[in-house]
Amino acid sequence: MYEILSKLPIVKQSRQGKVRDMYDLGETVLMVTSDRISAFDVVFPEPIPGKGIILNQIAAYVFKNTSGIVPNHFITDKMEEYPADFQPYKDYLEDRSMLVTKLRMIPVECIVRGYLTGSAWNEYNYSGTIGGEPMPPDLKENQKLPQPIFTPSVKVSEGHDINISYQELLNHMDQFIAEFLRDKSLALYDYGHNYLLSKGIILADTKFEFGTKEGAIFLADEALTPDSSRFWDLEAYNSGKGALSFDKQIVRDYLESIGWNKRPPAPHLPSEIIEQTLAKYREICDIFLGDHS
Ligand SMILES: Nc1ncnc2c1ncn2[C@@H]1O[C@H](COP(=O)(O)OP(=O)(O)O)[C@@H](O)[C@H]1O
Ligand SMILES: [Mg+2]
Repeated sequence: MYEILSKLPIVKQSRQGKVRDMYDLGETVLMVTSDRISAFDVVFPEPIPGKGIILNQIAAYVFKNTSGIVPNHFITDKMEEYPADFQPYKDYLEDRSMLVTKLRMIPVECIVRGYLTGSAWNEYNYSGTIGGEPMPPDLKENQKLPQPIFTPSVKVSEGHDINISYQELLNHMDQFIAEFLRDKSLALYDYGHNYLLSKGIILADTKFEFGTKEGAIFLADEALTPDSSRFWDLEAYNSGKGALSFDKQIVRDYLESIGWNKRPPAPHLPSEIIEQTLAKYREICDIFLGDHS
């Protein structure tokens, strides 16, 4: 599964996330997006063939088009600009990798929600709040929120994320940084929501990660991909058919349907779930890249 790691000469400096393989080059990192899929923080045995290329291309597009909102870690995704060590692996690396600025990551998932779904819907049902903030009564599942809300979460040691309120975030860090993360995340959500709405897609919610270097804050990791976002079909949503998804929701729904306890080992994914997921990821990629894909 992790075949590429053993092929590259700089293995010992690498680290592996659930989806991305990171090759540490000192000031920069080669970020390679594999075809692995994770849900509920567990990686599945089956890859989704070609998924890494889709995610990498979407993220590259978003980084290139949002640097006016906030600077980001993207340097290049042109193979010929990569260090010589990587050139023999062109067949694998092309389109699924990018060279990025190495950052000290801020350990906060910067989630923005424009619609009431997922864990925010659970929280609202339980306490009438979202991200700890009181909300109007009688909101419905999947409803558009009066305005997009920043709901950060932090990793706890066992790998799972816990939601914290903006007030709690302020206890963890400098007010300037917390405000920056909130305001830039909301601005990036607005960009994504407006862009996709014009193409018939609703960006229901999404997650960003940021990192720092020499006192500056950069957008990092991936951005506006189907792994990090919920995308819904606008027409289906407007006609009351609910949230027809173009993202990992297909996998999550399958896992709920088989009653998996969300603890490792991950169950096998049937081939039709893999194919459906890939088809939806492709549609989103085509929407982002249009004629440029
Ligand atoms: N520019 C960067 N510099 C250093 N680390 C980064 C950068 N961008 C992303 N990362 C980190 O690299 C990892 C990417 O791999 P991924 O598979 O997404 O990991 P995870 O399992 O944590 O989701 C994440 O831990 C992310 O925080
Ligand atoms: Mg990740």
